[in-house]
Amino acid sequence: MAEPKHGTSPIVIDETPGKKAYCACGLSANLPYCDGSHSREGTGLSPNVVDVDAPGKKAICQCHRSGNMPWCDGTHSKP
Ligand code: FES
Repeated sequence: MAEPKHGTSPIVIDETPGKKAYCACGLSANLPYCDGSHSREGTGLSPNVVDVDAPGKKAICQCHRSGNMPWCDGTHSKP
């Protein structure tokens, strides 16, 4: 399994309700969403699929160290 390409801060979006697939490999050209790159690149990783039940601002983890994936929990700012 490949190591994900890590970002340094979350991507903050105004999200809409529904099933979402957030990129876990960091290779998507459409971050924070999965675009299938994890499969094309043979990473062995898969996206974080969640049901968003209400619209609103969401911070999507890009450092891949959050304890509450796919949501940012502030871990990116810790050493
Ligand atoms: S493109 Fe990164 S998890 Fe699918």
